[in-house]
Amino acid sequence: MDLPPSGTVLGRLSDLPDPGGREAGWEATPLFLVRKGSDVRCFVNICPHAGRALSLPDGRVFVHKGEYILCPVHGATFELLSGTCTGGPAGDPLTAVPVRLVGDVICAA
Ligand code: FES
Repeated sequence: MDLPPSGTVLGRLSDLPDPGGREAGWEATPLFLVRKGSDVRCFVNICPHAGRALSLPDGRVFVHKGEYILCPVHGATFELLSGTCTGGPAGDPLTAVPVRLVGDVICAA
């Protein structure tokens, strides 16, 4: 899996719904960003259940009740900030990619 090197700009906090998420700006491996307030996380955009994208066709990631990432394919749910599977058929957690905030800019850590 080709993950972004440290310092790669992946997006801007102000471009993310709060709470919510969208695809990240990295082409080599599909990634998405989620935020809740000033907390931001990045995950590989591949559901551990059947390998499908968690993002919707328009790039948004559906966040349920402000707490759970919802896979649109078969409905698995994942805790927003940890990626732990909390329901549905996936079981395994999302793969996290470390990030840091530099002002409004989200960078690979
Ligand atoms: S592909 Fe995500 S729940 Fe099946």
